[in-house]
Amino acid sequence: MLYIGIDLGTSAVKLLLMNEDGKIKNIVSKEYPLSFPKSGWSEQNPQHWYEQSVAGIKELIEHFDKSQICGISFGGQMHGLVALDKNDEIIRPAILWNDGRTFKETEYLNNVIGKEKLSEYTANIAFAGFTAPKILWMKENEPNNFAKINKIMLPKDYLAYKLSNTFSTDVSDASGMLLFDVKNKCWSKEMMEICGIKEEQLPQIFESYDVVGSIRPEIAKELELNESVKIIAGAGDNAAAAVGTGAVGDGMCNISIGTSGTVFISSEKFGVDENNSLHSFAHADGKYHLMGCMLSAGSCNKWWVEEILNTKEYDNELKDIKNLGNNKVFFLPYLMGERSPHNNPDARGCFIGMSMDTKRKEISQAVLEGVAFGLRDSLEIAKSLGIKIESTKICGGGAKSDIWVKIIANVLNINVERIEIEEGPALGAAMLAAVGCKEFNNVEEASNKIVKVVETIKPEDELVSNYDIAYKKFKKIYPTVKELYSELM
Ligand code: XUL
Repeated sequence: MLYIGIDLGTSAVKLLLMNEDGKIKNIVSKEYPLSFPKSGWSEQNPQHWYEQSVAGIKELIEHFDKSQICGISFGGQMHGLVALDKNDEIIRPAILWNDGRTFKETEYLNNVIGKEKLSEYTANIAFAGFTAPKILWMKENEPNNFAKINKIMLPKDYLAYKLSNTFSTDVSDASGMLLFDVKNKCWSKEMMEICGIKEEQLPQIFESYDVVGSIRPEIAKELELNESVKIIAGAGDNAAAAVGTGAVGDGMCNISIGTSGTVFISSEKFGVDENNSLHSFAHADGKYHLMGCMLSAGSCNKWWVEEILNTKEYDNELKDIKNLGNNKVFFLPYLMGERSPHNNPDARGCFIGMSMDTKRKEISQAVLEGVAFGLRDSLEIAKSLGIKIESTKICGGGAKSDIWVKIIANVLNINVERIEIEEGPALGAAMLAAVGCKEFNNVEEASNKIVKVVETIKPEDELVSNYDIAYKKFKKIYPTVKELYSELM
């Protein structure tokens, strides 16, 4: 039996073919454009997602026995607003998770409706990237488009809809809309009213491993697949990544360094951080999780190396970094504003501490360290809630860098475990497809059988204490420059 996992990312869609033993048979990646129409805005055309996914599936399965393919599932960039009209046409480009245009709407939700009410309705407060503030933004700024909305969906749900004709979402991704009552796993009537939308405009909710339908016959034909191929709901990319790294069940942690950076903590029970600094979402294993999200993580390094240093030689840039824990240069990694913990779409990147003898490699190092310090901000909040984390799994592009993983282990002072297959969300999606097709009894069983830790990076005492001092300095920079950001906009 074969299963397809589709990770619908921000820069590309990654497709993975897995067999019933969890062996990876093939991986294909297809890019699409990302546009920033204004500073802090971020959009994509859902049609590109679909076209590249279909092209990717074709390439992925070309040399395999297609009759063996049983199920397709997804891990998708979260929070994006995809709006379709009554003819299922895309009304406007999707507004993505890292888009910061909804400052006003977020302020309204948090301060006029009030954080307490939002937390009571949804277990979360408003962050600029969440879906509900985007709906309010559209209502205010594009009333004609708002009036046309027939269906509201998340990025990966657009793929599921095109492939199966079922208007569906899953609990983990729905959690990030600020329209979903996470505790009771249903749409919040109060939030629908606040946003001026009706339940018919929202997708039907499934657990991540549920079958939502079968592949549409005409697409089955185009892809040369059986019409019995099942489409499984899938998950937001972080929950899918957690499945793919085995962060399921209670008290497991996964760090993802993709475009965004997240600290994900699985939990048997529903729980809310009383300041709502961490998101309280449903997990793809049927339970719950807490999560802190940095809007720019891997993307900081990409921006620094490719845009500023004008090279693609990442290894070359990082190979001379040796002086860990003693860097005089600091970097605030808020290139697209910041979600956790500052909830400030106006925040921006900042270097400080350079002198005439500062070397290029120290600035490169500061970029990696700034992201690690940002991750620690979320970890510190989890610790303050009494959650004990001694180790974490790691995935995403950043997990491939030895030096970055070492920095993270020492800044966070926890063991960092590398997984045999680093394809977090795509692997997790394929595992969800396998669970949906009854290859495994549940997500935990799939994870126990498939996920293998191959290396543990342990913190070192001296580095940990040096980084502790450095983190305290890092913590002082944001409050010092914060007031400047709105003036700089
Ligand atoms: C999580 C979040 C990001 C995106 C990235 O809340 O916004 O991690 O899901 O694709």
